[in-house]
Amino acid sequence: MIRLSSVSKSFDGGLTYAVRELSVEIHDGETLVMLGSSGCGKTTTLKMINRLLEPTSGTIEVDGEDISQRDPVQWRRSIGYAFQGIGLFPHMTVEENVAIVLRLLGWPTAKKRRRATEMLELVGIDPEKFSRRLPDQLSGGQQQRIGVARALAADPEYLLMDEPFGALDALTRDTLQQELLSLKQRLCKTVVFVTHDIFEALTIGDRIAVLHKGELQQVGTSEEVVGRPASPFVRELFEKPAKQLAAFRDVL
Ligand SMILES: Nc1ncnc2c1ncn2[C@@H]1O[C@H](COP(=O)(O)OP(=O)(O)OP(=O)(O)O)[C@@H](O)[C@H]1O
Ligand SMILES: [Mg+2]
Repeated sequence: MIRLSSVSKSFDGGLTYAVRELSVEIHDGETLVMLGSSGCGKTTTLKMINRLLEPTSGTIEVDGEDISQRDPVQWRRSIGYAFQGIGLFPHMTVEENVAIVLRLLGWPTAKKRRRATEMLELVGIDPEKFSRRLPDQLSGGQQQRIGVARALAADPEYLLMDEPFGALDALTRDTLQQELLSLKQRLCKTVVFVTHDIFEALTIGDRIAVLHKGELQQVGTSEEVVGRPASPFVRELFEKPAKQLAAFRDVL
C-alpha cells in the first residue's frame, strides 16, 4: 500500500502550492485514478511518488516505510512508469526500449530478450515484426503500447501512469483502456493512473481521486463520486457530461 499523508509541494518557496495537504491511500491491487484539470497537481503527485520530486512537507509511505529513507534509484527501478512526456528512446529499438530497466538491473541477455518478447505479446505487439524497429517507425498507439510494455517489464508491484493514452484517437484509446483492464486482472498490479478525462477515469478506476487546484476534493468509487459528490466542484465535474454519462450506466 502507498500512503500519502498531508503531502504538499511548492515550487516557489511557499507562495503557491502545486499540491496541498494531500492525504490518500492506494490499496494493494487497486487502480486509483487521479482526475483533475490541467495544472491541478497530478503529475507533481506522481513524480513525488517515484521521487523525481521531493515533497515540501508531508510523508509518502510504502508498506509502512517512508520512501524518503529509501535509495531513490532503487526505489524508482522497482516501480513501472509510463509518463506521456517521457517517451521512448529514439535511438533504441523497440526491444531495447522494453528491456531498458532489465538492462539496468543487470539481467543476462537471453533472459532479457525472452522477457521483452513476452511483454510485447502481452500488449498486442507482434515481436517478430516490431522488435527491431525504431520508435519513429511506429504509430502513436503502438508507441504507447511499447511504453506500457516497458513499464511492466521488470514485473513491478506498482505502476504509475501519467496520461499514457493521451493524444490517441478515441478508438485506439478505448482498445488500450480495455487491454489495461484485462492486464490488471491478470497481473494484479497496484496502479496510480492520471487523467483529465472523466470517461477514462470511470472506465479504468477502482477508485477516483478528484483533485482541484492542488487539493483533494474527494476520493471514492465511481458510484460515490458521481452519486454522492463531496463538493460543488465534484458535482459540477460529473454533472456537465451527464448526458454522455448515461452511456456508463452499466458500470455505475
Ligand atoms: N518544475 C516546476 N517548477 C515550477 N512550477 C511547476 C513545476 N512543475 C509543475 N509546476 C506547477 O505546478 C502546478 C501543477 O502542475 P502539474 O504538472 O502537477 O499539473 P497536472 O495536473 O499534471 O496538469 P496537466 O493535466 O496539464 O498535465 C502547475 O501550476 C505547474 O505550473
Ligand atoms: Mg500532468
